[in-house]
Amino acid sequence: MELDSLISQHQSDWTDTKNRQPNDIKLTTEVAAAAIVYKMQEGPMVKRRLLIARKLRDAVEARAAHDYDVILNPHDRLMSTEALIAACQGVDAVLPCHSEQFSAEVIAALGPRLKIIANHSVGTDHVDLAAAEAAGIVVTNTPDVLSDATAEIAILCMLGAARRGAEGHEMIRAGKWDFWSPAFMVGKQVTGKRFGVLGMGRVGQVTADRARGFGMQIHYHNRTRLPAQLEKGAVFHTDVDSLLAVSDVLSLHCPTTPATVGIINARTLGLLPAGAVLVNTARGALVDEPALIAALQSGRLFAAGLDVFQTEPGGNPTLSALPNVFLLPHIGSATEQTRDAMGFRALDNLDAFFAGKPPGDRVA
Ligand code: 8YV
Repeated sequence: MELDSLISQHQSDWTDTKNRQPNDIKLTTEVAAAAIVYKMQEGPMVKRRLLIARKLRDAVEARAAHDYDVILNPHDRLMSTEALIAACQGVDAVLPCHSEQFSAEVIAALGPRLKIIANHSVGTDHVDLAAAEAAGIVVTNTPDVLSDATAEIAILCMLGAARRGAEGHEMIRAGKWDFWSPAFMVGKQVTGKRFGVLGMGRVGQVTADRARGFGMQIHYHNRTRLPAQLEKGAVFHTDVDSLLAVSDVLSLHCPTTPATVGIINARTLGLLPAGAVLVNTARGALVDEPALIAALQSGRLFAAGLDVFQTEPGGNPTLSALPNVFLLPHIGSATEQTRDAMGFRALDNLDAFFAGKPPGDRVA
């Protein structure tokens, strides 16, 4: 069956831009050489077929359409698992976001043509990397380019939670600000407090730098200790429990793995100093939400600032009803420059792969 009819069978408004773009190639020596080799080996020179699963920035889609035979999603509709599998059958590459789930079952159904999953995300927990590797499918991500944007959102979550930003904002919007006193809306000042970073990768390091701007003392736990020039005086904790015990603010930046799912739970929340603030801009799966709700309701935790949830989109209604949470809808990397950079980085990985070179950000 033709790819087009497979897609329309599952999703009516996909746009196939096949034949709309000039069939030219990049005039770089390496790409030209690779193209000639390909032409000699496999017949007439053709653009590789690329499925871009979500609506990306115009400049990213334009570059993709110049270099690839692209299938776009102009109405940005989330594909069902069946539509994703069907759409991947006739393409050489897919460029998904974290919203597309590539479980072992999905990967097994992808068919032989798909060679690379070039993610538009740093997180890869939506892809079963072992299954992809076993199927001979290369997987890449987009590290580095979103660290600044995500660190900004982590700081926004910290301040929004510690200084009761959501409560104040909602009070005024609802027309309920009818009182003021020195005892009104008193929050937690973060200046000089201890900022705990769980997962001191790229985003964790930039967030720690921003927290240093508030005079905060940085503590962290990471699988491996950072070299002194990256540590910048931060206190390394060899185990998670020891970090939690000193974290007036705890910010989560570790990947989601079987070892970290639910790492923030009733036991570990109990290790935090009384009145601590939890910040999560990584993944909702790191936190046991019922345990977090209990800690926020009891006052054991002063507040939480959350950009990610176990269920997305939507979040957790019980959590959302609490006054002491500052909530954002997974917008850590949502700035124009960062979304451009993420898209270009994903395309860089594809270009390298199809030029026969190792993609810079290969994770499987
Ligand atoms: C994005 C993210 O929202 O990079 C990640 O892992 O969660 C976010 O940057 C998203 O994946 C964009 O495609």
